[in-house]
Amino acid sequence: MLSTLLLRASRSPRVRQAVVGFPVTRRVVDRFVAGESVEAAIRTVRELAADGLYATLDHLGEDTHDATQATAIRNAYVELLTVLSRNGLTGCAEVSVKLSALGQGLPEIGEKLALENARAICEAAEAVGTTVTLDMEDHTTVDSTLRILRELRQDHPWVGAVLQSMLLRTPQDCRDLAHSGSRVRLVKGAYAEPAEVAHTHKPDVDAAYRRCAEILMAGGGYPMIASHDPRMIEVAGWAAHAAGRVRGQYEFQMLYGIRTDEQRRLAGSGERVRVYVPFGTDWYGYFMRRLAERPANVTFFLRALIGR
Ligand code: FDA
Repeated sequence: MLSTLLLRASRSPRVRQAVVGFPVTRRVVDRFVAGESVEAAIRTVRELAADGLYATLDHLGEDTHDATQATAIRNAYVELLTVLSRNGLTGCAEVSVKLSALGQGLPEIGEKLALENARAICEAAEAVGTTVTLDMEDHTTVDSTLRILRELRQDHPWVGAVLQSMLLRTPQDCRDLAHSGSRVRLVKGAYAEPAEVAHTHKPDVDAAYRRCAEILMAGGGYPMIASHDPRMIEVAGWAAHAAGRVRGQYEFQMLYGIRTDEQRRLAGSGERVRVYVPFGTDWYGYFMRRLAERPANVTFFLRALIGR
């Protein structure tokens, strides 16, 4: 219930204004966001690399409804890739991109515009020797995102996809994408979805996650197990073993600021671990989804607001 309210609020301009306006919000946001500038993001990638962790960088922004803004976000990614290369970090960092930030939601031209912008980012990534993963947003965007993925993969077969176990369609999408060379990040799903298309009970989302992890591990692609849930990590490890995979033929992924000790423990045990590092000024939607995932985060936020 609370989580649904927070996810609705994540798309409300009025709540956005109020939350962003609280001076203390920034302190809480810092727990989940690596900073506002490219320099802050680069610093974080270096710190992670020093601990044996890989990174995927998210230049925060979503739901762009203006082509000029979509182009600006594309340019920001291209510039980010140049800076990563200049700093010698493309071996340990890639980028994650939300197609809605690249204009996917614009009426009529959205899909074409997002494809063109994503293509420019993929070309820039290929030029510096790294990869791009397309984040997955709410269920209304999945078909369009997978169409764009297919187009991009014609020239850049390494482009990564994200699939959400909460969606009823996802086991089939996993089967379709579990082929050689296909990078797939499996997540539970962070959006409020209706029962017609999604599991609405957590145990069902978790059971579907296990099934999907098994499908991806048994297939020929490169599974990226993105979860902080110890049970999902354990099951994925077993599934990798059962499929005869060795470390490096799959990876674990977690979000910046969440279960950081576990990120380091897994990396220390020899697993490949990548941290999703969001940065930038447009953090509102991302931050609200993190609050929605865990009631304790809301308490933490409220405590900061009332100054305790
Ligand atoms: P679950 O929510 O069951 O959490 C398990 C445990 O992890 C909790 O008990 C807690 O200890 C810890 N935890 C989880 N979330 C926390 C939080 N916010 N704060 C503090 N602790 C927390 N979703 C999506 O729809 N599209 C996408 O493209 C992506 N991309 C993505 C990339 C990566 C690398 C990750 C790790 C996740 C995503 N997600 C996502 C988010 C994902 O769908 C999901 O909402 C979160 O990962 C939370 O689910 P868990 O699998 O961690 O399990």
